[in-house]
Amino acid sequence: MHDFELRNLSYKELHEMLTQFESHFAVEELLLQQKGSSLVQNQIEAHEIYNSAVMRLITKNSVEETLLYLVAWWTDHILIDDMKYKGEL
Ligand SMILES: [Fe+2]
Repeated sequence: MHDFELRNLSYKELHEMLTQFESHFAVEELLLQQKGSSLVQNQIEAHEIYNSAVMRLITKNSVEETLLYLVAWWTDHILIDDMKYKGEL
């Protein structure tokens, strides 16, 4: 998503985006469970920490501040946590 679009996101659009992320987590955890991956618990815990942080942020901060956290978290999560199971799925 383009930076300009992110800055102008409404709470409704942010909520829709977060819902899509939740679906992504569910699919990712299911696929790892089906493969019997040893990394499934690591993923579940990372997603739980993320969910708690997002709920805390979204109730106390602006959309823009929440988005800054989301961009940083997703970048780290994909490049570090998700790369651990690269080749397993
Ligand atoms: Fe993940």
